[in-house]
Amino acid sequence: MDFEKIRVVCVGNSTLDRVWLVDELPVGGGKFRAHDYLELGGGMAANAAVAVARLGGAASYWGRGGNDTAGHTMCDELSRYGVDIAQFRLFDGARSSVSSILVSHDGERSIVNFRGSDIPADASWLPLDDIARAQAVHGDVRWVEGARAAFAAAREHGVPTVLDGEIAEQADFHILLPMVDHAIFSESGLRAFLGDAVNIGDELSPVLGLQRARDLGCRVAAVTRGAKGTVWLDESGVHYQSAFPVAVVDTTGAGDVFHGAYAVAIAGGCNVAESMRMASAVAAMKCTRKGGRAGIPSYAEVQVFLAQNG
Ligand SMILES: Nc1ncnc2c1ncn2[C@@H]1O[C@H](COP(=O)(O)OP(=O)(O)O)[C@@H](O)[C@H]1O
Ligand SMILES: [Mg+2]
Repeated sequence: MDFEKIRVVCVGNSTLDRVWLVDELPVGGGKFRAHDYLELGGGMAANAAVAVARLGGAASYWGRGGNDTAGHTMCDELSRYGVDIAQFRLFDGARSSVSSILVSHDGERSIVNFRGSDIPADASWLPLDDIARAQAVHGDVRWVEGARAAFAAAREHGVPTVLDGEIAEQADFHILLPMVDHAIFSESGLRAFLGDAVNIGDELSPVLGLQRARDLGCRVAAVTRGAKGTVWLDESGVHYQSAFPVAVVDTTGAGDVFHGAYAVAIAGGCNVAESMRMASAVAAMKCTRKGGRAGIPSYAEVQVFLAQNG
């Protein structure tokens, strides 16, 4: 199978990383020289949309930014990846989310993020009728109103939904988890959802936390654990997908890309285990190149990788 004509709508965050490559991270004030400079789009839903497009699906990104240079740079890059940005709205007077990232020769980094400002939370402008023509909806926790509206429309039309459970307020998880079919947390996102109620230290099983997520209504609750792989809980019990061993260069955006690949797999009719396996392969391959997006494979490339990696 391939994902041609499979449409996934990704709702949520887009950011711009401004990356300076320096010999040493600056200490204190002063003037410093970078030997290279990159502008790279990021953000959970935006990266997920790029993964959908790279895998051959029809990706639509629905999100918000400021009508500023960073906003236009993000739009241009998403377009170059073939993502439909008709609903990436840049608001006058608002400012986009940007990060300044300094990377030293040994890979150490210092990151300063600005989450943007004056970006309206209102989601009433989204063309929710379009959801009926999608095969999956992906949403993240950075635009709760947007994800909430899209998930509600998806439920109405029987379209499967995937949540990126990154760090967020507990109240937001309580809004979104009852509306979503597949909730895939990062480890820190799952901790944020659980708060102090359940401590899932590294040596403890996250299953109890995933059970709490399922108690709120999602059918599949999962947690990605970097090189330790992915654990998920569904009506038939606990399941595991190990991470694929690769020569890791950069794990930026691994989780975002995992979510996009998972969403397009579910949209294409794969079952949960097949989707977890493909998402793990796509995320691992992404880690072999610098940046959040450059390493995302095509569908043909991931098929070859899966054939070679059992
Ligand atoms: N070092 C790694 N080697 C192989 N796969 C990885 C590695 N890091 C991440 N992945 C894959 O990407 C997925 C998401 O990564 P993770 O670090 O859990 O999310 P996030 O980027 O949101 O913190 C993992 O479940 C795994 O499949
Ligand atoms: Mg993540």
